Amino acid sequence: MTSAEIATGLYSAKKRHMDRPVIQLRQAKPTLEEGLAFARYLDEASEAFFRFMLGSRAEQIIATAFVEPDHDLAYQNVTFAERDNIIVGMTSGYSAEQHRRSSSRPLQQAAVKSNLRMRLVLILFAPLMRIIDSIADGDFYLLAIAVDEQLRGEGIGSVLMDAFEARARENGSTRLCLDVSARNESARRFYERRGMAIESRWPKYLPIPGLKFYRMVKTL
Ligand SMILES: CC(C)(COP(=O)(O)OP(=O)(O)OC[C@H]1O[C@@H](n2cnc3c(N)ncnc32)[C@H](O)[C@@H]1OP(=O)(O)O)[C@@H](O)C(=O)NCCC(=O)NCCS
Repeated sequence: MTSAEIATGLYSAKKRHMDRPVIQLRQAKPTLEEGLAFARYLDEASEAFFRFMLGSRAEQIIATAFVEPDHDLAYQNVTFAERDNIIVGMTSGYSAEQHRRSSSRPLQQAAVKSNLRMRLVLILFAPLMRIIDSIADGDFYLLAIAVDEQLRGEGIGSVLMDAFEARARENGSTRLCLDVSARNESARRFYERRGMAIESRWPKYLPIPGLKFYRMVKTL
């Protein structure tokens, strides 16, 4: 499948059992409604980090930034999975080069009143953010993947991962990479079954109880 097929909604995948509904993938549109859906999945995949950083208005703030182009949280980086025309999952990610060109301004402008809180959290977590921000040349970074809780285990995540990998190859990237919390064992197993391996464990020099991540990679 190609990203052009995803963008036009032409790609659809029958799940393992033929009697199950078809999953269709499509690129996100720059609307607040889709931004709110993205924000909910992002919060789930990041274990509520964005809510912690932006406060109770996190979903509205992320949705406002989402409609602006050319930054990490922009609609251009998001693929939705749909079943019967209802969004049931999403992936978001970008290449190292796109990440380097990305600006934090759309999020800062959207945050307005929560901007101070966001800056404080980013200062507090600066050593960790530096690790998340370090994407090697040639890598394609999976920022988030999530599927509606009641539909997990039905193959939707696999369809989304296959499409994400196809996007990375098409972009000319040579590796997939992502960060996963050590607590999230089911997601780590999901990635391992799809050929990803742990490259490093972090933070190395700043042990914070309960805060441990794996950087996982897959050569394409
Ligand atoms: C990780 C995630 C996206 C996977 O999506 P999914 O649609 O469940 O993925 P699939 O159905 O394709 O595969 C899940 C695997 O677990 C198995 N599984 C069985 N029951 C399951 C259940 N209730 N929930 C999840 N997985 C289940 C599946 O059979 C499958 O096994 P396989 O890899 O051997 O094929 C999804 O679990 C999720 O949204 N998790 C919460 C958000 C998250 O943690 N994101 C990752 C952050 S780094």
